[in-house]
Amino acid sequence: MGRAFVYVILGGGVAAGYAALEFARRGGYSRGELCIISEEAVAPYERPALSKGYLLPEGAARLPGFHTCVGAGDELLTTKWYKEQGIELVLGTRVISADVRRKTLLTGTGETISYKTLIIATGARALKLQEFGIQGSDASNICYLRNIDDADKLVNVMKSCPGGNAVVIGGGYIGMECAAALVTNKIRVTMVFPEKHCMGRLFTVKNAEYYENYYTSKGVTFVKGTVLTSFEKDTSGKVTAVILKDSRHLPADMVVVGIGIRANTSLFEGQLVMSMENGGIKVNGQLQTSDSSVYAVGDVAAFPIKLFDGDIRRLEHVDSARRTARHAVASILEPSKTRDIDYLPFFYSRVFTLSWQFYGDNVGEVVHFGDFTGSNPRFGAYWVNKGRIAGAYLEGGSRDEYEAISVAVRRKAKVTNMAELERQGLSFAIQE
Ligand code: FDA
Ligand code: NAD
Repeated sequence: MGRAFVYVILGGGVAAGYAALEFARRGGYSRGELCIISEEAVAPYERPALSKGYLLPEGAARLPGFHTCVGAGDELLTTKWYKEQGIELVLGTRVISADVRRKTLLTGTGETISYKTLIIATGARALKLQEFGIQGSDASNICYLRNIDDADKLVNVMKSCPGGNAVVIGGGYIGMECAAALVTNKIRVTMVFPEKHCMGRLFTVKNAEYYENYYTSKGVTFVKGTVLTSFEKDTSGKVTAVILKDSRHLPADMVVVGIGIRANTSLFEGQLVMSMENGGIKVNGQLQTSDSSVYAVGDVAAFPIKLFDGDIRRLEHVDSARRTARHAVASILEPSKTRDIDYLPFFYSRVFTLSWQFYGDNVGEVVHFGDFTGSNPRFGAYWVNKGRIAGAYLEGGSRDEYEAISVAVRRKAKVTNMAELERQGLSFAIQE
């Protein structure tokens, strides 16, 4: 049993949706020549909605409202759209092995799908507590959040314990965004993470302090610098408490876990060159892997960032998934006209009424600026490396202000005097 396509997109997440739109816009295929194979049962959607709009107590986002590519203000690609465009959606189908030499993929249903060109868009999976030696983390009231099934479980568990206690494990993006959503749903939240402050991969201590104080004012309790060791359960197997390394018991009606991800590379290990440092599939500026018929995009791809002198990075953010996907399709369809990708890393988050954006790289000396007080703050930070702006962060900015900091990073604006940069703050970027 088998099918043959010219182009196969493996994975049906954010990158797949944006790749499909780019194929359709460029028209470089005939009906039936292009397919998306996805383990998920639905067409590609904007994954960021799962920790934001999807968890709202009222007027929550639901499909088909947030299929790609609405997150970038573009068309809503429903299953009807794919049909009209002649793009086959092979949904609810897991690929269990890949043979790059033969250009074939084997699905869990025993079908062999062949391709001439493959785009790997398999994204990443959430790390599980059992990978850290914690037993019993498959209980019915422990939630992870990567896909729509996880989000549905989280919503159901949340609704089953109104006014109850949630323990959030992890102080990264999932932890921060889910804690805010839980509070909005009137659940009491305790956050537990091993670092000294939240968002350790990006935030400075001063930035983190602002958010931690804000969360505390919303009733969130922080338990920092420790990890959980086990769970207490009732006779039905539901978690009733989280037990910490220092023997403390935290009562819990539900647990949300966000302890990082691993890129889904396993199908291609030993067949394509990997980036060991970044844990992804290594690609060049055309998003092409070590096999010229295979491209990789989104969370799974480790690609060169021109702005960082060609340093290879694997980014775990939606803007990068969208742009690498579109760039790969351009490279495939018009290789001679497509230059190497020149990407400016961009991360953002929205929690409660707060909202921040970050551009570039958080390396070098930090200079903070702005007003860190109140519930409508406007503050930020610059990272200065070798006398130039390497990264910039802004909370509560306007569209023009975000644009200004992004341009300062893109231009690697020269900094001659750190004290003067601190004094000028946001004006430095605006005047640039
Ligand atoms: P993505 O994970 O979207 O898709 C991978 C797809 O491949 C899935 O459909 C999966 O089922 C499929 N797949 C994997 N292996 C397969 C196999 N063997 N066979 C078949 N199918 C397979 N970023 C940001 O910048 N701002 C934000 O606010 C957020 N918010 C956010 C919230 C939540 C809850 C999550 C989980 C993530 C975010 N992100 C984010 C990160 C962002 O969503 C992420 O970077 C992109 O979804 C990555 O897109 P990809 O297409 O690479 O992977
Ligand atoms: P993360 O890397 O942001 O944070 C992981 C956190 O896990 C760390 O901050 C640490 O506190 C904690 N941790 C690690 N090991 C632990 C352990 N043994 N016990 C307890 N805590 C531990 O990852 P995440 O928050 O799980 O997010 C998953 C993915 O989703 C990331 O790729 C992220 O970029 C993406 N995401 C992004 C956004 C956004 O950009 N706004 C929002 C949600 C999710």
